[in-house]
Amino acid sequence: MRVLMKPTTEASVKANSDRPLDFHRRLPGYEESPIVEAPELARKLGVAKVYVKSETARYGLPSFKVLGASWATYATLRDQLGPLPEGQLTAEQLYDWAEPVRSLTLVAATDGNHGRAVARVAQWFGLKARIFLPGFVSDARIEAIEAEGAEVRIIDGDYDASVDASIEDAKNPDTLLISDTARAATDVVPQLVAAGYTTAFIEIEDQLARTGDDAIDVVAVQAGVGGLASAGTNWARHTRKDRSPKVMVVEPEAAPCVFAALAAGEPVPVSAKGDSEMAVLQCGTVSLTAFDILQSGVSCALAIEDEWALKAVAELAECGVSTGPSGAAGAAGLIAALSGPMAEQIKQHMGITSESRLLVVASESSAAGASVSDIDRIAA
Ligand SMILES: Cc1ncc(COP(=O)(O)O)c(C=O)c1O
Repeated sequence: MRVLMKPTTEASVKANSDRPLDFHRRLPGYEESPIVEAPELARKLGVAKVYVKSETARYGLPSFKVLGASWATYATLRDQLGPLPEGQLTAEQLYDWAEPVRSLTLVAATDGNHGRAVARVAQWFGLKARIFLPGFVSDARIEAIEAEGAEVRIIDGDYDASVDASIEDAKNPDTLLISDTARAATDVVPQLVAAGYTTAFIEIEDQLARTGDDAIDVVAVQAGVGGLASAGTNWARHTRKDRSPKVMVVEPEAAPCVFAALAAGEPVPVSAKGDSEMAVLQCGTVSLTAFDILQSGVSCALAIEDEWALKAVAELAECGVSTGPSGAAGAAGLIAALSGPMAEQIKQHMGITSESRLLVVASESSAAGASVSDIDRIAA
C-alpha cells in the first residue's frame, strides 16, 4: 500500500443551475439507490458509523455509470433538440424525442461499465452505439455490452489506447463521443458525465436528512480516471460546505493514475496492464476535467493491493451489499488505511476518531462481472 497525505486548497465553485437528479427522477425505472450501515465494519475500524451507498442497480444496470452516460447524452443533445417533455417520462417519449438524430452513433471507450451504460442509453433514445475496449476486459463484460445492442471493438492495447481509438472514431460524421474521461480540461462531455454521478451524492444528502442525523466526516471513493471521485469531492466541498467531509481516493496499486498525478502535482501516465482484481479501475491517465477538483479537494490518496479489495468484498457482503473488488475499493481503502502500518498518521491527518462517521460507495454489483449466461442461469 502507498499513502499520500496532502493539504487541500480553496475550491473554485462553478455555478450550474442544472440538477441531473431532477432529470434522473423523471426517467422510467428511477429508484433511489439504498444507503445502508455496516455496523460490524465500523466496529472493526473503531469508528462510530460506516455508511455504504449501494450503487449496484441503476435502471436495471449493475453500476452507477448510467447516471453519467444518461445525463451527458441528454444534456448534449438538448442543445440541438430542445428539452424533453415536462413531467414523468415514458420509454416512447425518450425514443420519439431523438427522432431528428436517429442516424447518430454514440461512441465510448470503457473497461466495462461505462460502455454498457452508453449502449443502454443509446437504446433508450433509439440510437446506435460503438464501444471500444482494451484487450484485458473479460468475455462476460464484452457479452454484456453486446447484449445492449452495441457494436464492440476490442483494441490491442490498454484502456488509454481504447480512449484514443474512440476519439479517432468520433471524428466520423454522425457520431457523438460520450467519454467519461477528458484529455483536455475544457472537454464538456466528461464534465457532464461526472455531473450525472452527483445524483448518487445528492440522494445521500436527502437520505441522511430524512434520518435527522446527517454528519459525515470522511468519504472514501474509488477511482479509475477520477470522475466519480471528482463528483464526490464536489459534493463534499460545495454541497456540504461547512460540514465538509474529508475525501480519500482509492485505486489499485496496479493502475494508480490519480495517486501519481496528485503526487506529481500534474497528470502523469502510469502503466495499467489489466492485472488487478479491481478490473474496471485500471486506467493509465487521470481525467483532466477531474484533476483540478481532486488536486484541490482530496486529503488522502491510497494505492492498494488486491487483497484489501477482497477483504472489503467480504465485509460489505456482511451488511447485505453484494459487490466485487472494484465496487468495494473505497471500503478497501478505509480498511487498509485504518488497519495498515500508517493507521495512526492517517487517522490524525483525516481527523478520524472513535466518533467518526465514514461513507463509501459500493459502485457496482458483483453481477457486473458475471456473464449474461451466468445471470440467466442464476435467475432461472
Ligand atoms: C464500478 C466502478 N467503480 C468506480 C469506477 C471509477 O470511476 P471513474 O473512472 O470515474 O474514476 C468505475 C469506472 O469505470 C467503475 O466501473
